[in-house]
Amino acid sequence: MPGRPTVTVRFSAAEIAARVDVMAGELAVKLPADTLVVSVLKGSFVFAADLIRALSRAGADWSMDFLTLSSYGTKTESSGRVKVVRDIVDDVRQREVLLVDDILESGLTLSFAKKLLLERGAKHVSICTLLEKPGKRIAQLDADFVGFQCGDEFLVGYGLDWAHRFRGLPYIGVVEKTS
Ligand code: IMP
Ligand code: MG
Repeated sequence: MPGRPTVTVRFSAAEIAARVDVMAGELAVKLPADTLVVSVLKGSFVFAADLIRALSRAGADWSMDFLTLSSYGTKTESSGRVKVVRDIVDDVRQREVLLVDDILESGLTLSFAKKLLLERGAKHVSICTLLEKPGKRIAQLDADFVGFQCGDEFLVGYGLDWAHRFRGLPYIGVVEKTS
């Protein structure tokens, strides 16, 4: 009978918390007071929740909206197709927007989101991602703020899922194969 999968830690809760604080300090200095933070769901909800509280501690109090996109389904490979599952509510015309996501891999998800918000009249859209996976980019897109570079492996925890599991882990890690 297969055992319960074990997850090997790549970024601990303490490492993530420290990095999020540093990122928030940087964001608070670089972006204007009326920035709209758009959390790309589902994966970024844990990161975004910590980030906005770190932003408040850093002296910035920004409004938030949520954009649910889907491209992955339950597979660990990108389908290459991105669609809006649930849209934002706020009007982005003339707004500075910060797109927050968990991980930048092919870039298809975030380039879709950025293009969508710019087409709707956002003044400027910058990208903040907790993790960046090297060597996998398909879309021409750079993140403006990156938490950690990670290896080319499938990560779970801190909002990241594998077939809807492991999002609640307080750290980020890799699922070890069970025998
Ligand atoms: P991209 O469109 O290929 O850049 O993929 C971005 C999205 O794919 C992320 O927002 C995640 O939801 C998902 N994703 C990419 N890599 C991983 C991973 O290692 N673990 C969990 N989700 C991932
Ligand atoms: Mg995601």
